[in-house]
Amino acid sequence: MGERWYQEAVIYCVEVGTFQDSNGDGRGDFRGLISRLDYLSRLGVSCLWLNPIHPSPWRDNGYDISDYYAVDPAFGSLGDFAELTRRARERGIRVVLDLVVNHTSDQHPWFRDACSNPESPFRDWYIWSSDEPADRHQGTVFPGEQTETWTYDQQAGAWYFHRFYDFQPDLNWSNPEVRAEIQKVMAFWLALGASGFRIDAAPFVIEQTTPGVDPGPSDFSILDSWRHETQWQTGDSVLLCEANVAPTLVGRYAGSRSDGPADRAQMMFDFVLNPKMWLALARNDAEPLIEALTTAIVLPPGAQWVTFLRNHDELDLSRLTEEQRGDAFKAFAPRAEMRLYGRGIRRRLAPMLKGDRRHIELAYALQFAMPGTPAVRYGEEIGMGEDLALDGREALRTPMQWDDGPNAGFSTADRAELTRPVITRGRFGAKQVNVRAQQRDPNSLLRWFENLVHTLREAPEIGTGRCSVVDVPLPRSVLAHRFDAPAGSILLLHNLADASVTVDIGELSGMDTRPYDLLVDGPYAAPTARLAGLELHGWGYRWIRLRRSDQR
Ligand code: NOJ
Repeated sequence: MGERWYQEAVIYCVEVGTFQDSNGDGRGDFRGLISRLDYLSRLGVSCLWLNPIHPSPWRDNGYDISDYYAVDPAFGSLGDFAELTRRARERGIRVVLDLVVNHTSDQHPWFRDACSNPESPFRDWYIWSSDEPADRHQGTVFPGEQTETWTYDQQAGAWYFHRFYDFQPDLNWSNPEVRAEIQKVMAFWLALGASGFRIDAAPFVIEQTTPGVDPGPSDFSILDSWRHETQWQTGDSVLLCEANVAPTLVGRYAGSRSDGPADRAQMMFDFVLNPKMWLALARNDAEPLIEALTTAIVLPPGAQWVTFLRNHDELDLSRLTEEQRGDAFKAFAPRAEMRLYGRGIRRRLAPMLKGDRRHIELAYALQFAMPGTPAVRYGEEIGMGEDLALDGREALRTPMQWDDGPNAGFSTADRAELTRPVITRGRFGAKQVNVRAQQRDPNSLLRWFENLVHTLREAPEIGTGRCSVVDVPLPRSVLAHRFDAPAGSILLLHNLADASVTVDIGELSGMDTRPYDLLVDGPYAAPTARLAGLELHGWGYRWIRLRRSDQR
């Protein structure tokens, strides 16, 4: 694994508490996760991103941390964590942690101390206003759940700022002591074997907040110092930014100069592409993707997009126009209870695509064919569903479905003791959808997913190459694009509609072998050298290799 390992990685997002319980207390833990490393190894993923693992009151799924130097005792010990990173590394899998430092929990001893007395050494670690800020009802991230960003604390006798929930006070990043402390936190986890961090809420971390100024100016020197320090400590560690900002601003999170290398975060979640993929799926139309690929922001050399279809949050459609969002809602969230905050969908992918295997394959083939490194959330590889009876985003955070036994093999605890209920009923219940059944079935979604992951690893040009849309007349539903890199060239065809089509691509430059199918949804006649008369089934896809080189 080289220093640029992240450009050819497949990221798998795990929530430790809902993945595998090893001691029967109803919550997943590190030993449980360790016991599933062979499963993950066969799946072929090369990087685990763990949702927060620290002690927390768990009011926002652990994104409210009360101790940065420990793990939640229910997950195990620091020793268990170190063993996880070591055992994962033995299988070529790295572990990346969520770094949630825009805010702490209001139960963090720093905040408790800060509230208790104005002279506290931690007072200035948070953001205060002695008067009621005029803009205190502006800028909330969770409309409907949270009405203000400044809340009065009786004990402190002052207003504190919180970009997210009121139990998540923002740290004051203008304070050098805060910077120094978080640097120590990062060094601590790298020393225990972590390979980097997903930077939660990056734009808000670097935002300098003062009452009445929203949004405040951004201080990118925070990212500069993180990159410097993490790289100094572990040369191949990475920073993965969660920065859902305007496309024109994204590049600055990766590099300090528009004409220079990536000297900030190595990886950026692609929040521009994500809703465009869903719009294309909703409209059976390649146009949103052609637009996204032809207008894509070019990240500085060394930086990498991370693509995703679903994650642990609602599917955020706020970057679409009202009409586009309406189409996506109609297709994927027809009932009001499936929607969240007026902008998003609280569902997993398989039920959004009505459990249609061909449509699910198309969606994931498409994601894996997009420029960047794909990230997949646990359970997507078997087509898990959501539980809309649970609150908000909890709906899509139910336990992993390992088998059709009690609690789906997640835990031996009594049902009532489980951290969240296992989905037992309906088409996506554990009797129907589980790992064991799919391991026995060579045609299962799981086996297909493994093949997808391994095919991507054989096609490094997708992670590292230059992407271009193939500009020939095609049916509206077909996206044709290609990647070219020293490693080879590849043509990718995806049909976003459920009707078969035949397309003529014509001869392409850079083809020095007889083209052949690398990944297909079903049997097709071999492609001709002129790439003419290529059939594509409804919701079909073909990854066609044009050239392969030994030079890598
Ligand atoms: C983004 C995380 O993805 C989300 O789950 C969380 O609620 C907020 N940041 C606050 O940390």
